[in-house]
Amino acid sequence: MGNIFPRWTNLLAVKLLVCLGALGTCVIAVAWYSWTPKYTRVGYMPQQPIPFDHSLHAGQLGMDCRYCHTHVENSLHSNIPAAEVCWNCHGAGKVKSDSPKLEPLRQAMDENYENFTGEPIKWVQIHKTPDYAYFDHSVHVNRGVSCVECHGRVDEMPVVYHAKSLSMSWCLDCHRDPAANLRPLDEITNLDWTAEDLDKDQFYAELAGKTGAKVEELKAADEGKEWSRELIGAHLKEAWQIHPPQDCAACHR
Ligand code: HEC
Ligand code: HEC
Ligand code: HEC
Ligand code: HEC
Ligand code: HEC
Repeated sequence: MGNIFPRWTNLLAVKLLVCLGALGTCVIAVAWYSWTPKYTRVGYMPQQPIPFDHSLHAGQLGMDCRYCHTHVENSLHSNIPAAEVCWNCHGAGKVKSDSPKLEPLRQAMDENYENFTGEPIKWVQIHKTPDYAYFDHSVHVNRGVSCVECHGRVDEMPVVYHAKSLSMSWCLDCHRDPAANLRPLDEITNLDWTAEDLDKDQFYAELAGKTGAKVEELKAADEGKEWSRELIGAHLKEAWQIHPPQDCAACHR
């Protein structure tokens, strides 16, 4: 399949199906849902102009994702950092500034360099939703969905690759049952966060503050249940009133 038809036919097909869906022709939608390829782009790992290593910068050096991906909390799209951000550390005379790997950075930033062009570094985009599907980063990040649920363990990747399919059925799998994918907002960029990392007493205290219930009541109700992402997420889902949309028009506007 793929590129046999020009782009507009694809868009037309979506518009048509979304209309039909709205009229209640769910059969088509269900059929389409089950056909949507689940694993098409998984593993995509293009060659980048600079071999940038997330496992070094975000893993070993412990830099927060938002140091570089500054827009992820407040915009539809995330962003790739401008060369200035790298230059903070790799500027002339600083960390590894003579490394051959950083040649494109010197060309972009070092005015005294003989091959200076001032051109931005041409990173190859890896994750991309088609234009006919609406996706907003900030909505997810601000509702307790971590980068790791959608991009995998980037902090352990020497080279970033497409870890999850990002297909429609994949979006919907979470929208139907998001609880196990929710976490406290201050742990969004802590990719190896687990249920055990959460301070139970503090959690119940905050929950009580939010819902008006008593801490003892909340704890008693959870007595005997396994302390897990599902349990924590179920509480967060209720307290924050999380209801991810499943209607066609929410993602195809
Ligand atoms: C020092 C800056 C820096 C930090 C910190 C950083 N990144 Fe990146 N990130 C980049 C650069 C540069 C690229 C583009 C090159 C590449 O793909 O490796 C990128 C690419 C990505 C991509 C792929 C983008 C695409 O084209 O689809 C994802 C996803 C990503 N980063 C997630 C993360 C996450 C999650 C963290 C935190 C654990 C993080 N990054 C921390 C600089 C950074
Ligand atoms: C907060 C400081 C900091 C920032 C910002 C930063 N780096 Fe680094 N980078 C380092 C450190 C520290 C090392 C490890 C140096 C060493 O191995 O001695 C490193 C290593 C590297 C290396 C390996 C160099 C070699 O020859 O081994 C590359 C390539 C690199 N960084 C690219 C980038 C790019 C591209 C950006 C911007 C997206 C960036 N870095 C942003 C601190 C930073
Ligand atoms: C709910 C799923 C989801 C979450 C959570 C999520 N992303 Fe993404 N990310 C996506 C999708 C989908 C795309 C492709 C979006 C597009 O085409 O606009 C993407 C694209 C990106 C890109 C590429 C942007 C570009 O213009 O090249 C970066 C960088 C990125 N994400 C970083 C992050 C970071 C950092 C976090 C955590 C703070 C994060 N994402 C959380 C789903 C997610
Ligand atoms: C890991 C879980 C998860 C995944 C994966 C996910 N979402 Fe969501 N989505 C959520 C949550 C949580 C909300 C917030 C719902 C709320 O606030 O009630 C949300 C809200 C939304 C909304 C409504 C808010 C808005 O921006 O208008 C849209 C649209 C949306 N998601 C699109 C997508 C698309 C498209 C994908 C796939 C590319 C996707 N989502 C993947 C969890 C997820
Ligand atoms: C949670 C968000 C979300 C909802 C709800 C949603 N879609 Fe989608 N849809 C997507 C995304 C994202 C894609 C692009 C998938 C990809 O890139 O593989 C897509 C792709 C499609 C496509 C193109 C499929 C293909 O393989 O090219 C059609 C047709 C479609 N959707 C119809 C619908 C209909 C009809 C409904 C309502 C029953 C619906 N969608 C509900 C997110 C959504």
